[in-house]
Amino acid sequence: MGYRVAVVGATGNVGREMLNILEEVEFPVDEIHAIASRKSIGVEVSFGDRILKCKDVEQFDFSTVDLVLMSVSGTFSKEWAPKIGAAGPIVIDNSSAWRMDPDVPLVVPEVNPDDVEWADRRNIIANPNCSTAQLVVALKPLHDRARIKRVVVSTYQSVSGAGKEGMDELWDQTKGIFVLGPSEPKKFPKQIAFNVIPFIGAFNDDGYTDEEAKMWNETHKMIDPEIALTVTCVRVPVMVGHSESVNIEFHEPLDEDEARDLLRNSPGLIVIDQRNDKGYITPKEAQGEFPVFVSRIRRDPTVEHGLNLWVVADNLRKGAALNAVQIAQLLDERGLIGDR
Ligand SMILES: NC(=O)c1ccc[n+]([C@@H]2O[C@H](COP(=O)([O-])OP(=O)(O)OC[C@H]3O[C@@H](n4cnc5c(N)ncnc54)[C@H](OP(=O)(O)O)[C@@H]3O)[C@@H](O)[C@H]2O)c1
Repeated sequence: MGYRVAVVGATGNVGREMLNILEEVEFPVDEIHAIASRKSIGVEVSFGDRILKCKDVEQFDFSTVDLVLMSVSGTFSKEWAPKIGAAGPIVIDNSSAWRMDPDVPLVVPEVNPDDVEWADRRNIIANPNCSTAQLVVALKPLHDRARIKRVVVSTYQSVSGAGKEGMDELWDQTKGIFVLGPSEPKKFPKQIAFNVIPFIGAFNDDGYTDEEAKMWNETHKMIDPEIALTVTCVRVPVMVGHSESVNIEFHEPLDEDEARDLLRNSPGLIVIDQRNDKGYITPKEAQGEFPVFVSRIRRDPTVEHGLNLWVVADNLRKGAALNAVQIAQLLDERGLIGDR
């Protein structure tokens, strides 16, 4: 017996990956519906060997499904997730709308799986920001072993993190510079091709961006509010795959060999860390993969107990669609989908 599943935002970067991954991991699906906006009615998306025709969210009866994987905008989710949750199915939402709501669990299965148990408060579970998801998978085992005091993160985030329009803009600008002549930035505030942009999201009053604030707020909610975390988020001209330079200071001693072993034996992580000119991961190699990769593990000699890491993952997979499907698998294992 499988579930009746709807993917909302099925024409988007994350929605398409959700359909791919549901099929790849053989999630027990009896019925699957692809949902998007009215303009996409009839647009075809793939689900394994099958082609699904998109339906309009306004016309769909959500009481006929058990599980909804949603990947639209925060504004959309604020309106729709409670309505859908009240109609019966459990909603796993990828937007930022519900992540900090005290009645909504924010879940990365490798980090805080038990939080799915209280999802029935609103019938909504939030998926973290893409940069947070890969960070917390790497931080959790280290925190459990040596208690993290402070983390300094700089991100190198791919354009797919800004949706399909972000990918189109990098592609068009790159072609434009060589062939067609320059094109004006639309999705990003400055040229992204052959450039880097130290600004993602919107500025807050303190000079940080909301993207940066999401990373410490979400880490606090999922791991420990005592961890001091400071972040700079940077957009880079990479299509898929977010990278992070992570500096960690611990309360207790943890040497680099033990950290490497610990990370190697922790769920969802692969360590690629050899000291030769190819012994590390790049986003190109992480694209299409499930795990979070850790490289360049080394001692930070400027503090008593410190390490530096390089953390990379496919932002459309572990950063979004895969994490959502893993939450669905967790709900299935614990018998939390369906008659609750
Ligand atoms: N990309 C990432 O790395 C990442 C990671 C974590 C979380 N997220 C979050 O996931 C969400 C989606 O991101 P994305 O990258 O997949 O964006 P995207 O490629 O721009 O796709 C957006 C999807 O939302 C649908 N949509 C837009 N307005 C709608 C409406 N009024 N009614 C129904 N459907 C509507 C679009 O359908 P149409 O084609 O019909 O317009 C499309 O399917 C965002 O909240 C984002 O912050 C993204």
